[in-house]
Amino acid sequence: MQTMIGVIGGSGVYQIDGLEGAAWRRVDTPWGAPSDEVLTGRLGGVAMAFLPRHGRGHVHAPSDVPYRANIDALKRLGCSDVIAVSAVGSLREDFRPGDFVLVDQYIDRTFARPKSFFGSGCVAHVGFSHPTCPRLSDACVQAARAAGVTVHDSATYLAMEGPQFSTLAESRLYRSWGADVIGMTGMPEAKLAREAELCYASVAMVTDYDCWHPGHDAVDVAAVIRTLTANAGNARALVAGLPARLGAGRAPCPHGCDRALETAVMTAPDK
Ligand code: ADE
Repeated sequence: MQTMIGVIGGSGVYQIDGLEGAAWRRVDTPWGAPSDEVLTGRLGGVAMAFLPRHGRGHVHAPSDVPYRANIDALKRLGCSDVIAVSAVGSLREDFRPGDFVLVDQYIDRTFARPKSFFGSGCVAHVGFSHPTCPRLSDACVQAARAAGVTVHDSATYLAMEGPQFSTLAESRLYRSWGADVIGMTGMPEAKLAREAELCYASVAMVTDYDCWHPGHDAVDVAAVIRTLTANAGNARALVAGLPARLGAGRAPCPHGCDRALETAVMTAPDK
């Protein structure tokens, strides 16, 4: 199987440097239109597809991002792997603004978004105990280190609905639950990627200390944008390091991400 790396860019990450044969392509899906057209091309001999999660110009709010259409569009284009880049607040002292974090667990507190490709008619329950792909996450860690970025290789992500930031009581509660970072877009994207049998890694860029830290101002959009702008080059360098680490040909995922539905469908085949 050929590798095709999908990159879902978060706030502040709207392009891939050095993409050969770059072209924006419209992709239609049964779930409606994705957030934007998808930028396709090749980097280091590997096919790439880039989709800005909020659309160019940041027009989709976290609750309104068409998550199903986005994942379906990348699957339709032939992606084997999806790297999701996003901005997060830090819920712990040692994850500092500017650091990168590979998320490997989630607490899903979102409530106003469709979360599955399945439903009545075809019922499926994919395994989700390990929601991200360790092989792909490891490639991201290596690429981040090579780019000179401070990167943490494990973190629990609290997905909140937003669009307002958290109260102090909520921020303290999430810390007491053991969450390490907080963001508004990690869910249901990761769930849908698993249902679509994609290897998925979440590269979270720390932009702030949310509002719990006595030594730092409570998060606001200006702080988020300032840190993202300063770090967008690092995110692009990380992405540029992935083709060499993943290679153009792809063996089956050792963790079974690409076979997630084999044991998941409940509905009888003749229904
Ligand atoms: N994205 C960036 N910082 C955030 C925060 N503190 N809370 C939720 N989403 C964020």
